[in-house]
Amino acid sequence: MNSGLWTAVDTYFEDMLIGGDPVMQAVLDANRAAGLRPIDVSPTQGKFLDLMVRISGARRILEIGTLGGYSTLWMARAMPADGLIVTLEYEPAHAEVARGNFARAGFADRIELRVGKAADSLAGLAREGQGAFDLVFIDADKASNPVYIDWAVKLGRSGTVVICDNVVRGGAVADRTSRDADIVGSRQAIAAFGDKSRFEATALQTVGSKDYDGFAIAVVK
Ligand code: SAH
Ligand code: DHB
Ligand code: MG
Repeated sequence: MNSGLWTAVDTYFEDMLIGGDPVMQAVLDANRAAGLRPIDVSPTQGKFLDLMVRISGARRILEIGTLGGYSTLWMARAMPADGLIVTLEYEPAHAEVARGNFARAGFADRIELRVGKAADSLAGLAREGQGAFDLVFIDADKASNPVYIDWAVKLGRSGTVVICDNVVRGGAVADRTSRDADIVGSRQAIAAFGDKSRFEATALQTVGSKDYDGFAIAVVK
């Protein structure tokens, strides 16, 4: 492990590829001032989400796990002007910080934040007939990842992009004996994405300022 070097390379990439970004820095400052845990995606990972939205042309985006809305705003800025993000958060205190960040960034009208257990909010979206999400970013309680992947398919369509965060966790995902609910959930997510009748999928290990982790990425068949 060489996290000092990983961070130095991330800083270099941020300087060269992202540069000063007052909007996103204001989000991180507000999150810190509110005492949120700094577990948002990193800037280079945020830009990766931005590019996924642009490459897929996603207009309707579903996010599970808002925190302060840092990843939400990376995706919101990348979608077309008529795009919409529905983002789901359990903790009212996190939701309040996120709402402030959405308003300051000028996206309050294009981001719908639903507070409650994501499983309940997802059932509500289905009842309302809200569907055909083009891209789903799963980043909440990792134990529920397989449940969220099933919802992503139900609320998606053939071609929907599903991205699942934190599937590596320092390499723990390869431990078939793990009893950690988060690791078990991420292993179930990988197993679900491995069903070739439902998905085209891969998973990528990442290092950087957020240490050693990774994303799983799938397209619904
Ligand atoms: N996507 C954010 C980080 C999310 S951190 C970013 O990168 O900026 C995970 C979030 O999921 C936390 O805010 C946590 O409160 C929320 N969460 C945990 N369990 C949840 C559940 N059952 N339903 C909805 N949100 C949940
Ligand atoms: C944690 C959650 C995340 O979504 C993340 O990106 C990093 C850490 C956590 O719960 O520890
Ligand atoms: Mg995460």
